[in-house]
Amino acid sequence: MGKTISIVNEKGGCAKTTTAYSLAQGLFMVGYKVLGVDMDSQGNFSTTWGSDPDCIGIYDVLAKNEPVRDAIQVKPDRFDLISGDKLLRDFAARTSYDTNFMLHDVLAEVEDEYYFIIIDTPPTVATLTTNAMMASDYIIVPASPESYSVDGLVQLNESIRAIQMHGVADKHLKILGILLTRYRKGTRLANDMAGIIKAVAIQIGTRTFDRMIRENMAIKEAQAAKTSIFEYNIRSNGALDYRCFINEFLDLIKEDNPEFTKLEK
Ligand SMILES: Nc1ncnc2c1ncn2[C@@H]1O[C@H](COP(=O)(O)OP(=O)(O)O)[C@@H](O)[C@H]1O
Ligand SMILES: [Mg+2]
Repeated sequence: MGKTISIVNEKGGCAKTTTAYSLAQGLFMVGYKVLGVDMDSQGNFSTTWGSDPDCIGIYDVLAKNEPVRDAIQVKPDRFDLISGDKLLRDFAARTSYDTNFMLHDVLAEVEDEYYFIIIDTPPTVATLTTNAMMASDYIIVPASPESYSVDGLVQLNESIRAIQMHGVADKHLKILGILLTRYRKGTRLANDMAGIIKAVAIQIGTRTFDRMIRENMAIKEAQAAKTSIFEYNIRSNGALDYRCFINEFLDLIKEDNPEFTKLEK
């Protein structure tokens, strides 16, 4: 019943973690039960959440067979978290075919307890990202003008097609959309890139979200303060942009899943 969404882009610095965190916390704040999973060995998603370093994380679940429920951290004012840490690099080095399904199998145990599972992924599309995509119904691709590449998007689309053909039967992976991030209005680069990204999106059978996320200092400050943009400054452009993006996200999910109803708090 729950929908699993991975935030994917092989480039670093294009706002994957920022988008994953804002989406997870934003959905939580409007009343959905959300689980966030940190699949990046850098652990920025977990650090922003305020993860307990003594609690086991996704590495222990995947590599040491620890029960997934023991890895779920809860706080009253945040979405639930399964943390990531540098040990994930060891798991990333594994490349057997079976390894690719491990996250899917683990999350299947708790999926029904959540409306949304949001997965943050590392740069580079390898074992960890493949695991995330295998476990997902949808992918959101953040793309910033500076770090954007047409080749990267086309390659990502090919990886997704391979997963659609060889992945698990209960998931029909698709790109929900491309989200333009770190957008500087009025700059030549931003305008050119926005046009190109829209064209590529159509070419690979998806869309760009109407709302673009503007470059906004409050987003950096919120991360430094270990909180979401909504709690840091609800009136910032960052909060406004991510709120509009989340509304669009929910409209698309409901359009695609007519049975989807809102969880009452
Ligand atoms: N819209 C934005 N405006 C300003 N800074 C941003 C914005 N989005 C992300 N950042 C900052 O850019 C850096 C990279 O973002 P991050 O989400 O960590 O990217 P990724 O996970 O793709 O590497 C972080 O310092 C983050 O705070
Ligand atoms: Mg990141």
